Amino acid sequence: MNDTNNIDIINQIRSKVDIVDIISEYLPLTQRGKNFFGICPFHDDTNPSMSVSREKQIYKCFSCGASGNVFNFIMDYEHISFKEALVLLSQKTGIDIGNIQVKKENNKYEEFYNIYNIALKYFQNNINTIQGKQAKEYLEQRKIDETIIKDFSIGLSLSTRDGLLKLLTRKKYNNKLLNDLGLTVNNYDNFIDRIIFPLWDTNGKVVGFSGRIYHQNSKQNKYVNTKETPIFKKGQTLYNYHRAKEFARREKSIIIMEGFMDVIRAYSIGVKNVVALMGTAMTKEQVNLVKRLSSHIILCFDGDDAGRKATLTNGDMLVKAGIDNIKVIALENNDDPDTYILNNSSENFKALIENAINYSDYKINSLKKGINFNSDIEKSEYINKVIKEVSTIKDEIRVEIVLKNLAKEFNLSYNTLEKRLLEMTQEEEKRQVVIYETKSSKKKNNKYEKATYEYLYYMLINEQAIIYYDQQNIFFPIEKARYLASEISYYYKKYGIITIADFYTYLQDKKDLMELLKIVLTYDVKEKVEKEEIEALAKVIREYNVSQEIQRLKEKMKDKIDPLEKAKLADEIRMLKIGSV
Ligand code: CTP
Ligand code: MN
Repeated sequence: MNDTNNIDIINQIRSKVDIVDIISEYLPLTQRGKNFFGICPFHDDTNPSMSVSREKQIYKCFSCGASGNVFNFIMDYEHISFKEALVLLSQKTGIDIGNIQVKKENNKYEEFYNIYNIALKYFQNNINTIQGKQAKEYLEQRKIDETIIKDFSIGLSLSTRDGLLKLLTRKKYNNKLLNDLGLTVNNYDNFIDRIIFPLWDTNGKVVGFSGRIYHQNSKQNKYVNTKETPIFKKGQTLYNYHRAKEFARREKSIIIMEGFMDVIRAYSIGVKNVVALMGTAMTKEQVNLVKRLSSHIILCFDGDDAGRKATLTNGDMLVKAGIDNIKVIALENNDDPDTYILNNSSENFKALIENAINYSDYKINSLKKGINFNSDIEKSEYINKVIKEVSTIKDEIRVEIVLKNLAKEFNLSYNTLEKRLLEMTQEEEKRQVVIYETKSSKKKNNKYEKATYEYLYYMLINEQAIIYYDQQNIFFPIEKARYLASEISYYYKKYGIITIADFYTYLQDKKDLMELLKIVLTYDVKEKVEKEEIEALAKVIREYNVSQEIQRLKEKMKDKIDPLEKAKLADEIRMLKIGSV
């Protein structure tokens, strides 16, 4: 990306779009003063911490520190490479990028993707051979037809124990790598005689496999999965996410299920805004992933005790993440979505989606379980728990309905319940303030660090700071800051101008400097800066360097015995001290 022509085209595309418009396509932004604010999609945000500047054409999260230009936003949001983000925006702007060469990222893992793709083809081929007959019969009996097999790239591993190993070794991939990728174990295939389901990352690249037993009397584990790798983390993956994205936006809701057979079944009857957790409790990363697709989330877990428990833990997690439109489809009789659809009909299942109940109602209902209502203590405990739940409901009308029902059911006055609700809300608010205060009292940088970062920030908004930096040969005490400063100065000399939004693009391949740039941008407190301020900061940095040098000489002096050498050092120190005042 060092080519000036490339930079020109890239910057042209960047400046043709408005970051506020682009980000608005992904999340709602509201204007406050000059900037726009929204819920940050890069951490579990509940209050709008992300600000987007139309003037600077950058975004910045005050809470997690994420920041960047329009390319960075799209890359991080869509989990795509710089090149892919560039293509996306070039299509939007109609600016032709030709066959622009940008340094390929993820190069490191290119090989991983290639190997998984070879394995996928191998598995898919197997199921159509004579050896796949039984597997096909099993799938048929489970009502998985050819279309579904194709849609979900379902395959088969053979019973030969080394079919895949041989194939990949012939292609010169070494054993260690194949072990690391979870395709082989020691000198054998990891998947032996299993129906194979590929697992995709959020962009639809195959990053692993899950294999299911299919012989009736098999005593093996039901599923075997490839292990976690740098490109596959179970807790950051949702089965079928890459396809559900589009449908979730269209349907304005996303359905979460437990297993991938459930997702496959739902998809096959046209319910396509579905993802699966793959048998684990939801992680924060997964919450963030679904939150991006829609704020209307429907939980549809198995109709057994485990499923009901999972509904509550995951529902609470979503409430905590600030999602207020959570619904539940409560299956019964140990059904999972797959068996429900098979035993009833697709229409019945679609009706369940239409009639999904509010999570808070579901939870209040479930609180009743196991309570002995003849005991006054248990009864009041229950009522308090319900009120606690009510305190999470944002819709005032619903709050009143639930409280009125509760008052009627237990023959209590509405006022008593309302008073208790108010108390609880206040307690919670107090607690939140405490959490906020402990969070925000993080370690403050010292004076010199602060001066360094501020100076770097000024270099980005005022060329005077760059010129002064070059004239005075300012030496930043922090190594990375020195690199960043010289990059800024270099960029300015080369292009004659510095724009933060384009400087982000320039730093694309320099990850650690990019991190520092994000820190520097948290010092974005001023719109304008005067020459005197620039000089004052430079002075602070210089003083620091001098005091460091004095410190060093003093240490040196301690080790000297020769009085002459000692005197020489003392003299040096004296000179430095005079120079610095
Ligand atoms: N799972 C797993 N390992 C297991 C069991 C389950 O990884 N030994 C994961 C799978 O991703 C599975 C999910 O947990 O999809 C839910 O488990 P389960 O409901 O048992 O699987 P189903 O998808 O319903 O599969 P099937 O209907 O074929 O039993
Ligand atoms: Mn099942």
